[in-house]
Amino acid sequence: MVQNIDWSKLGFHYTETEFIVRAACHDGRWEEPYATTDKYLQLHVSATALQYGQEAFEGLKAFRGIDGKIRIFRWRDNARRMAKSAEGLYMTPVPEELFGKAIRMAIEKNIDFVPPYGTGATLYLRPLLIGTTPRLGVGPGHDFEFIVIASPIGPYYPGKFHCTTFIVNRHVDRAAPYGTGQFKVGGNYASSFRATESAHALGYDCIFLDAQHHKYIDECSAANFIGIKTNGQQPTANSQIEYLTPKSSAILPSITNDSLMTLAKERGYKVTRRHIRLEELADMQEAAACGTACVISPIDKVLDPERDRTYHICDQPGPVLSELYHALRDIQFGRAEDKHLWTEVFTPSV
Ligand SMILES: Cc1ncc(COP(=O)(O)O)c(C=O)c1O
Repeated sequence: MVQNIDWSKLGFHYTETEFIVRAACHDGRWEEPYATTDKYLQLHVSATALQYGQEAFEGLKAFRGIDGKIRIFRWRDNARRMAKSAEGLYMTPVPEELFGKAIRMAIEKNIDFVPPYGTGATLYLRPLLIGTTPRLGVGPGHDFEFIVIASPIGPYYPGKFHCTTFIVNRHVDRAAPYGTGQFKVGGNYASSFRATESAHALGYDCIFLDAQHHKYIDECSAANFIGIKTNGQQPTANSQIEYLTPKSSAILPSITNDSLMTLAKERGYKVTRRHIRLEELADMQEAAACGTACVISPIDKVLDPERDRTYHICDQPGPVLSELYHALRDIQFGRAEDKHLWTEVFTPSV
């Protein structure tokens, strides 16, 4: 199977690998994880995942570095975020060490699928937690299955690092202020498809505003928003440069955004997390969506057809975000020192 993969042609979609890893939980007790080649689950039709959406997932990557070593990026943060998502949906959290063991096992069992250095491709890991208790009466279950899927994925930018145009949607809210937006649960994505798919049909991505006022920027499709006010400065250590990102109870706390904020602070930029009015886009010199998949996806324009307004941000990726993008990629691929201990070098068990 592995021999047939043209690493340079992989897109951002699922390529089946040999093993998945599974672990079950009954009445609060987690069993040991095991690897299996069977990709199908025997799930009762009344499982709470199917009936009531008791489902949470994560997304993280393992990188083959310039030195040939495999580095897993900030997996403990994904484990903690998944524990919060589990609590948010009344599920038994996966213990951190079990999470780590399962992702290491998924890498080890699929080691030949870790793309070579230099292709830009990586091994994407998709931990998944589902409720398996059969029930029809509305309520949570007490049995769960934790699964880790691995798939090699291509670089987000196979060609040039480029910009994307976004469109504002006020007719579909992604998540309520005190709802599940801060959790990585399937329901948030299913409920946003009406907006994201209609944006894609027009050739754009979708910006979600806060559901209460439709005034502040919440999320960019399935990614956090970053705005840069450069005040005419170059990306050198300079407190004139401001890195802005939304403060909202309805957005997912992005691990990429957190990493970029740390790198921005190191460069002396002012990092501000606050409500960001949509109209403030007019004062930004750079903007981007950020997340594990793309790291940074620069935004050239934001269209607001209802208000008959277009915010022109920049024609091509700007210097501040480009530099942060390369700085984080360099850490992930082992080309730069990992001062923050964000990566764990994978060591096979035997
Ligand atoms: C809704 C949403 N926001 C933000 C992000 C970015 O989070 P991270 O940087 O941890 O991938 C993701 C992707 O996981 C997401 O699905």
